[in-house]
Amino acid sequence: MSLFIVFEGGDGAGKSTQAGLLADWLEGVGCTVTRTFQPGHSRIGAVLRQLLLDPASGPLSPRAEALLYAADKAQHADEVIRPALARGEVVVSDRYVDSMIAYQGAGRRLDPDEVAKLAWWAVGALPPDLTVLLDAAVEDGVGAKTDRDRLEQAGEAFHERVRSFFLALAAAAPERYLVLPARRPVAELAAAVRTQVAARLGAP
Ligand SMILES: Nc1ncnc2c1ncn2[C@@H]1O[C@H](COP(=O)(O)OP(=O)(O)OP(=O)(O)O)[C@@H](O)[C@H]1O
Ligand SMILES: [Mg+2]
Repeated sequence: MSLFIVFEGGDGAGKSTQAGLLADWLEGVGCTVTRTFQPGHSRIGAVLRQLLLDPASGPLSPRAEALLYAADKAQHADEVIRPALARGEVVVSDRYVDSMIAYQGAGRRLDPDEVAKLAWWAVGALPPDLTVLLDAAVEDGVGAKTDRDRLEQAGEAFHERVRSFFLALAAAAPERYLVLPARRPVAELAAAVRTQVAARLGAP
């Protein structure tokens, strides 16, 4: 059966680590998995990712930034996510709509409701079955990085707003989220994720 799982959280929270471990486990129990990410996992998306994350792009108008992220999401939903779900696969995506609401809305101080509408419009209102939110203190996540991309360079207050907004999104729809403290041991987090995903898969 198809299933759409998303990993969200701040920079350096452990999203890629946990997405990879979940995808490995799913394949081990016989699922066909599409491992994917935003921004950038399409031909046009790779160009957009470069523009968005390269510090050399310099300051972008917050609305221009939001529109570029929206374009990546629209292409990615149509080119990667929907076809994989239609084939009956499990899609595991590293970031999705909530990242845009948290970063371009709360982070850049645009209206998060407007950004949410834009992001959900871009993906054609395709909801994940489960979002795993890895909640890391800013100093443990982006704060621990040395080589920061354009968004990671946005400053501590920006990243505090992003963190708070992710938590608010999860609190507003708790049945669709698994919120985990991101600096628990990797294996413990992976086990918690597997339990939730297995429950949604039924017997794989
Ligand atoms: N549970 C954990 N406890 C401590 N360190 C962790 C944990 N999970 C991942 N890490 C480490 O934190 C760093 C960031 O992990 P990872 O790349 O998975 O995060 P990410 O959220 O994908 O980051 P990015 O935003 O850069 O894509 C890595 O060095 C990783 O080994
Ligand atoms: Mg990552």
